[in-house]
Amino acid sequence: MPRIAYVNGRYVDHRAAAVHIEDRGYQFADGVYEVCEVAHGQIVDMRRHLDRLDRSLKELGIAWPMQRSSLVVVMREVIRRNRVANGLVYLQVTRGVAPRDHVFPPAGTRPSLVVTAKKIDPAASARRSESGIKIITVPENRWERVDIKSVGLLPNVLAKQQAKENGAQEAWFVDPDGTVKEGASTNAWIVTRDGVLVTRPADHGILRGITRTTLLDVARKHGVRVEERSFSVEEAKAAREAFVTSATQIVMPVVAIDGHAIANGHPGSIALSLRAAFFDIAEKSPA
Ligand code: PDD
Repeated sequence: MPRIAYVNGRYVDHRAAAVHIEDRGYQFADGVYEVCEVAHGQIVDMRRHLDRLDRSLKELGIAWPMQRSSLVVVMREVIRRNRVANGLVYLQVTRGVAPRDHVFPPAGTRPSLVVTAKKIDPAASARRSESGIKIITVPENRWERVDIKSVGLLPNVLAKQQAKENGAQEAWFVDPDGTVKEGASTNAWIVTRDGVLVTRPADHGILRGITRTTLLDVARKHGVRVEERSFSVEEAKAAREAFVTSATQIVMPVVAIDGHAIANGHPGSIALSLRAAFFDIAEKSPA
């Protein structure tokens, strides 16, 4: 069965799907994106993802490529045509196609919209969560507006590659004061020795992850104490547990930071129970 992508008004064969060479996403990373999890045939936290898309677009002054309700129809259609019951749906909106010029293109230039979907075997992620992942830390070198989910991800790409070359699966960006910002594609969390869940406040220093927001709901409903505050790499190394969150990994335990084992080097029980509780509390929309 061929994979199908939606590109600017057409459903096309994924292998042949393309945007114009003067798309501003291609030339300037002048665009934004969203990744939503699809689980058991449902889109997880779609409303929150579309609200964040709306915010990212407004922050950059890019118009919606179509009405929100129409975008939901396209997302569902791409999921249906690719028969995705478990996996993800990816949305990308750029400022459109125009002759290369740094300033915005003329009013009326149509934003570009790409929607893709792919299957992911949930068993693979479950297996990974049973062994946990390793993290390296890297100096923060991104711009100040990482709260916008922009497709400009070069520092994230380089950090993730550095993690891979060092036998790790994620890199945490660290500020000059030693505090952890977030991962290259995840938010960062620890559980203190006293059992308090700690994650950095979602100010302009990190992306306000949708999984992060929903996990705060899950933790509060399960009576886990939560503190939204900065934590240092040293505190994380001494923590009872560490983990990361994202739409593609939900809750993924961290078992080592820069080669230093976290607690006994096995996934923490709070991370695993939050992971198990997540889907029940997240908002589900039919795909
Ligand atoms: N990444 N921080 C960064 C830098 C991210 O790129 C992501 C998501 C997150 C977690 O956000 P959410 O919980 O909304 O997925 C935090 C996506 C999955 C990606 O780039 O593939």
